[in-house]
Amino acid sequence: MNQDAGQKLYRKAKSLIPGGTQLLSKRPEMFLPDLWPSYFSKAKGVEVWDLEGRRYVDMCYNGIGACILGAADPDVNEAVIRAVHAGVMSTLNCPEEVELAEHLCELHPWADMVRYARSGGEAMAVAVRIARAKTRRDKIAFCGYHGWHDWYLAANLAEDDALDGHLLPGLDPLGVPRGLQGTALPFHYNRIDELEDIVRRNCSQMAAIVMEPIRNVEPDPGFWKRVREIADENHLVLVIDEITAGFRLNTGGAHLGLDISPDIAVFGKGMSNGYPMAAVIGRSEIMQAAQSTFISSTYWTERVGPAAALAVIQKHGKKNVSAHLDQIGRQVKECWRAAADRSGMPIHIGGINPLAHFSFECEQSQVAHTCFTQLMLEQGFLATKAFYATFAHRDEHVQAYQRAVESAFSEIALALQQGVIHEKLKGPVAHSGFQRLT
Ligand SMILES: Cc1ncc(COP(=O)(O)O)c(C=O)c1O
Repeated sequence: MNQDAGQKLYRKAKSLIPGGTQLLSKRPEMFLPDLWPSYFSKAKGVEVWDLEGRRYVDMCYNGIGACILGAADPDVNEAVIRAVHAGVMSTLNCPEEVELAEHLCELHPWADMVRYARSGGEAMAVAVRIARAKTRRDKIAFCGYHGWHDWYLAANLAEDDALDGHLLPGLDPLGVPRGLQGTALPFHYNRIDELEDIVRRNCSQMAAIVMEPIRNVEPDPGFWKRVREIADENHLVLVIDEITAGFRLNTGGAHLGLDISPDIAVFGKGMSNGYPMAAVIGRSEIMQAAQSTFISSTYWTERVGPAAALAVIQKHGKKNVSAHLDQIGRQVKECWRAAADRSGMPIHIGGINPLAHFSFECEQSQVAHTCFTQLMLEQGFLATKAFYATFAHRDEHVQAYQRAVESAFSEIALALQQGVIHEKLKGPVAHSGFQRLT
């Protein structure tokens, strides 16, 4: 057992914090059980230092998608520090939230009004509440992951495996009221037939269609046009979840480039580069329904989030950040392909360039993935089978990463060939979904 400070602290955390951390995707077990550095003392750009001062280059999630400009971006930090000095909380409101609303509506000309929250999942809960308030109906057809709230986890009440394939295999929705059974109805991306079937059977009770604009695969031709038609024909609110996809393909929602016409779009994560902020933007006739229900929270009024988001939006547009994310993501995909070809490792590569991922196509793939993380960590990289590009990634990071990936893939290919891949691991195999931690 590794005795590093990070692992020691994580063992202590598990006795104090159920599950050890607040986010499933930050659990060390998801990367490299018993060996992952777990905690950071400092992060700057793409560099991260662990509790013992060891430095790594982050070639995986970069704040689980939040740090689109890189950690501790100087321009965003400057805006935040200014906000801190001005005071972030008062009996009065901060004017930045009005300025931000204007900017968001300018970037998305179909939208007229904005509400705020401070995290993605709660902003999605706000959007769903508004859609239900507007339509006076309950049921939601959805595709993909949208956070931890009851409206979404209700999908697992219907059949135990309803959320399998929706990023949360193995999750038990205990604590979600059983009365919500049948209110969240999942379908798969590009499966218009599944959506049509849900709508045909439930349209009189349906409030909304909730989807990410794009994630792992491109939309089929005509897919989004038909989704919009279904929403219109049945008076459903079309909610586009831009929490991860937003600000990756352009300055604003990915839907802008995909010819999607939403009623509501929801932003989080990358819009404020690591400072808590989330926004629900929408057409005024739908957003006004927020007035007919109760959506209200003290910390949704603080100043840091909007100040950070304004700084991100300004820099994002000025520096053409999305072009950089695309280019770096493309290079990383090419480096996986080259290393795979050279080593003879069969891999599948997917995702839009800024949110790229690969998987080993072999029988012991999870063991191989864990081995990859271990070998990359030994070479100074935080790495897994996904790579979220940031504005702070430079060619030299990708070049150094490429050398490390080539060495790791060769070692893994050889170990698989010799049937000794399991023996290469210095700890347990990484978890691949939700698993209870004791
Ligand atoms: C598409 C999408 N929706 C919602 C969420 C939930 O956001 P948060 O973790 O900020 O609550 C995420 C987070 O990964 C996401 O990717």
